[in-house]
Amino acid sequence: MIEVRVPATSANIGPGFDCLGLALNMYNSFKAEEIEHGLEISGCDEEFKNEDNLFYKSMVKTFEIIGYKAKGLKIEIGGDIPVSRGLGSSASCIVGGVIAANEISKAGLNTYDIVNICAKIEGHPDNTTPAVTGGMTASIMKSGDVVFDKINICEGLKFCAVIPDFKLSTERARQVLPKTISYNDGVYNLSRTALLISSLINGNFDLIKHGIDDRMHQIYRGSLIENYEDVIKKCYDFGAEGAFLSGAGPTIMAVLREENQNFSNCMKEFLKSINKKWDVKELKIDTKGAMVIRN
Ligand code: HSE
Repeated sequence: MIEVRVPATSANIGPGFDCLGLALNMYNSFKAEEIEHGLEISGCDEEFKNEDNLFYKSMVKTFEIIGYKAKGLKIEIGGDIPVSRGLGSSASCIVGGVIAANEISKAGLNTYDIVNICAKIEGHPDNTTPAVTGGMTASIMKSGDVVFDKINICEGLKFCAVIPDFKLSTERARQVLPKTISYNDGVYNLSRTALLISSLINGNFDLIKHGIDDRMHQIYRGSLIENYEDVIKKCYDFGAEGAFLSGAGPTIMAVLREENQNFSNCMKEFLKSINKKWDVKELKIDTKGAMVIRN
C-alpha cells in the first residue's frame, strides 16, 4: 500500500486570481493499493464512498492517460483539510489521486506531467500546482499546459486561516463572478499582483497591504460570506500585513509577521463576540509539497 500526503493550499492570494497559490502545513493523507477487484473506500464521509470520489476519479483519469488497467482499488482517506472551505481539499484529492496512480502503475510521470494532469482535472492550476511542488507558485495555462514558477518568499511570514463553519463550493463561488471586467479593474489587479510578488520576495512586508487588494473576485464572493468585511477589517486591526479570501472562500486568510503573537487570540475573541463558531488556525508555508510515503 502506498500513501500520499498532500498539503492544503490557499489560492488566488488577493489579486492573483487563478494564478497564485501557496502550500500550507495542514495535510490530507491518501492510502491506495491495487486489489483483485472492486472499489473499497474508507476514512471519509459516506457520501464520498463511491465512484464519484474525487481521489478515485483522479486515479482513474491518470490510469486512462498512461494506459494502465487497475483490477480493483482499496483506498483509505484521512487528514485535516476541511472540505469546501477554500483550503484546497479538492486539489488535495486530485493531486493525491494522480500521484497514487503514478506510483501504483510505475508510469514514471515527472513533476511537470503531474502538475499538468492535475490542472486539467481541476480546470485551473492555482491550487494543484503548489500542492504538488510546495511553496508559493505562479501558474499560467498555455495551449492547455501549465507553465509555472516557484516564488521564493522572504522568510519572516506566517498565515492565519479564519475558517467559517459553513461550506462554499467553488462551483457556486464561480457562478457569482462577472463574465467580463473593465480595463481599469484589469490594470488594478495586474499592478497589484506585480507589487505583491515583489514585496514578498524582497521582504518589504509593509507593502503587502497595497499589493493584496483585488477587484476580480473578492468583491463578488464577499457577499456570500456573512461578516466578511468585518473579519477583513479586524485582520488589519489585529496587526495583519494583509488579508484575502482564500481560494473561492469562505476562509479568510491573514498574512502575519512571525512575531505577531496576539492575532489568533484577538480574532477568537472577536468571533466569540459576534457568536460565530469559526475556527482560527495559524499555519506556515509547506515547502516540500506532496510526498509519497512507503508503508
Ligand atoms: N482560483 C480558484 C477560484 C480557486 O477562485 O475559483 C478555487 O479552486
